[in-house]
Amino acid sequence: MSTELRTKTTEEKSAPHGLWSSRMVFILAATGSAVGLGNIWKFPYITGENGGGAFVLVYLLCVAAIGIPIMMGEVLIGRKGRKSPINSMRILADAEGKSRAWGALGWSGVIASFIILSFYSVIGGWATTYVGYSISGSFSGASAETVSNLFSDLLGNPWKLTLWHTVFMGLTTLVVARGVHAGLEKAVKFLMPTLFVLLLMLVGFAMTTGHFGAGLEFLFTPDFSKLTTAGVLTAMGHAFFTLSLGMGVMIAYGSYLPENVSIAKTSIIVSLLDTVVALLAGMAIFPLVFANGMEPGAGPGLIFKTLPIAFGQIPGGIVFGTLFFVLLVFAALTSSISLLEPTVEWLEEHRGINRKLSALLTGGAIWLLGLVSVLSFNIWSDVAPLGMFEAFAGKTPFDLLDYLTASIMLPLGGLLVALFTGWAMSKESAREALDMLDGPGFDVWRLLVRYVAPIGVTIVFFYNLG
Ligand code: PFF
Repeated sequence: MSTELRTKTTEEKSAPHGLWSSRMVFILAATGSAVGLGNIWKFPYITGENGGGAFVLVYLLCVAAIGIPIMMGEVLIGRKGRKSPINSMRILADAEGKSRAWGALGWSGVIASFIILSFYSVIGGWATTYVGYSISGSFSGASAETVSNLFSDLLGNPWKLTLWHTVFMGLTTLVVARGVHAGLEKAVKFLMPTLFVLLLMLVGFAMTTGHFGAGLEFLFTPDFSKLTTAGVLTAMGHAFFTLSLGMGVMIAYGSYLPENVSIAKTSIIVSLLDTVVALLAGMAIFPLVFANGMEPGAGPGLIFKTLPIAFGQIPGGIVFGTLFFVLLVFAALTSSISLLEPTVEWLEEHRGINRKLSALLTGGAIWLLGLVSVLSFNIWSDVAPLGMFEAFAGKTPFDLLDYLTASIMLPLGGLLVALFTGWAMSKESAREALDMLDGPGFDVWRLLVRYVAPIGVTIVFFYNLG
């Protein structure tokens, strides 16, 4: 899973898979997993659907009070266990004299990553299609209506969706089959900053629309009358999704982290970068929504119906638009490989299947499940498999897969991490593993993983069941 690992030195005797070459590399890889479609595609559209400011506030609170402490928990488990998520959990459970059943987190992570990647790849396919639209000049001078029709036409065509889902899944499988090596690390170093600059440019354009204030007000002025309990669950689930938490990805990345690196600082940096990208995406998109009289609650197509309008109007829009969608595809790829890698690694380690074949088998199975999402946007758009329950009325199979993973499996996985590091591990082992010997930081972290995160997740679940 690691990229560009150094050959071992004495420091690394206990890390059988090698270590990241520096703290920077860990930050890049973890940010590569965290920053993806979740920030640029999902965050703006769920914010739009849930009324804006109040939703954003809950999301930010969840990142700070639940997400960051749980990320620290995952990284500490990985760094102390130095193995895959399932085995690291088992090793630590053994060391604390606790049940090996804690390894269950690894299992639920494998299932969740399988499901998430199945729909992630379909959306990655949309982004890939938009590279082509941009190069061919489809956005030049296009009205909001033309851009919107372009998107509806794409969704209405299951063949085209399948083709680009296949391309995206193929690329993911290829990278994982070849081993995640130096090339990717270099790519991330260059791509992440460029994506950041392009987002800033788009925010700059949004300022010229005359509706920048309205966009900011929508994002940052909380109106709690617009927030439902379901919205709170979505915000909390998204904190897990966007930070790649609750499935053991950060345990796997943490298992390569050198001893002398501060887990607290790196987790905070990764979470901040992730949050800033999401907020920038929101600041670029909502002014365009209001300037063009569109609906903030337009759903999963929101960025595809708004940003092309900007690219159609700015000078050099073809170049910038193409670059933006290429970067979006890359940001999605650095996340999708982190979703495929754990299953492939597991098949390789435990079933003795070679890497290429296990990548192909897993990638193929995920591709097949992805067809459920492809069809949810056209032929099955009126199919609501759980429609008999009020809470699921109108939810397509795609909506249900998203709900099952982001709103249920990831928070539950995160809850396990919080309970494990806060309660199953002794205070002393946690303190030593985090390497936070003095200062109040450790106590704050422990308070958050012992009480705030578990109680928060439980209350949100409880309200949604009731
Ligand atoms: N964090 C990624 C995003 O926001 O696009 C998605 C993701 C990647 C979720 C890896 C979970 C995960 F384990």
